[in-house]
Amino acid sequence: MSVSGPVVRPRRLRRTPVMRAMVAEHQVEPRQLVLPLFVAEGATAPRPISSMPGVVQHTMDTLRATAAQSAEAGLAGVMLFGVPQTQDATGSGALAEDGVLNRAIEAVRAEVGESLLVMSDVCLDEFTDHGHCGLLAADGSVDNDRTVEVYARMAVMHAERGAHVVAPSGMMDGQVAAVREALDAGGHTDTVVMAYAAKYASAFYGPFREAVGSSLVGDRKTYQQDPANVREALREVRLDVEQGADLVMVKPALGYLDVLARTAAEVDVPVAAYNVSGEYAMVEAAAERGWIDRDRAIAETLLSIRRAGADVVLSYWALEYAQRLWRR
Ligand code: PBG
Repeated sequence: MSVSGPVVRPRRLRRTPVMRAMVAEHQVEPRQLVLPLFVAEGATAPRPISSMPGVVQHTMDTLRATAAQSAEAGLAGVMLFGVPQTQDATGSGALAEDGVLNRAIEAVRAEVGESLLVMSDVCLDEFTDHGHCGLLAADGSVDNDRTVEVYARMAVMHAERGAHVVAPSGMMDGQVAAVREALDAGGHTDTVVMAYAAKYASAFYGPFREAVGSSLVGDRKTYQQDPANVREALREVRLDVEQGADLVMVKPALGYLDVLARTAAEVDVPVAAYNVSGEYAMVEAAAERGWIDRDRAIAETLLSIRRAGADVVLSYWALEYAQRLWRR
């Protein structure tokens, strides 16, 4: 028998939609997605964030409503960020009983119960007037150990108000151990710690600064990681797992898919990735100009992050994807 052309034809498996669906290796489901949400203290109407079209600083009411929609859409959870009315050197709003983030956690948890996971960012940058993630020492450097004590107190407050998951995000040494210990001492042994384990000093957090009204003096290079490094990320991840992290996160996502893949291969805890504000803004800006197919770019972005190894994806598109783009 004469053979003309190749015997092996991978295109056979791509011929029809049903065939392609059968052999699809990865998918993105709402249950794997977390929606980050911002809530502004004292806001009476949602405030648009110009560098993140479609994203707003919520009022308490619109926050609750969006959380309810997120539960309805089958998302895993919401990650809450507070935007306080005033900031100061020590970020005292973070520890105020009636601080905006504490109140938001309480309100959302009352709204959703067990139908959605309430997650909180444990960090000081939203609350400090210098915009750093921690307390400053006399020489202007970020004081690791005093900052970690504040994170531990914040995490306990968040757990008391109903957070299912607390996410220390300041890249301070020992933050996971301190948070875990404080939670356990306070009887919150069931509160999950999701560690921002490998978090880079990235330009892609730009729009987030506007989202939380934070103006940073200097940069975060003494605590967030150098984009040049991957071994360092694996070390940070290992340390966080040793200290009791229930999940570890890699952030940002797109420029760090290699870090994500290596992390997923290395650890035996679930891995999350944060599709950050600058990654969102790039797609939105290009779509606005008609340079890119927005829906396809969103779906491809989320799928790429899953394919690289993320079990959980935090994304500003989470709700829209679940409501409009996801096909069962
Ligand atoms: C820290 C925190 C930041 C982001 C999430 N948590 C800012 C930072 O680390 O500099 C950025 C998220 C994004 O850019 O979407 N509170």
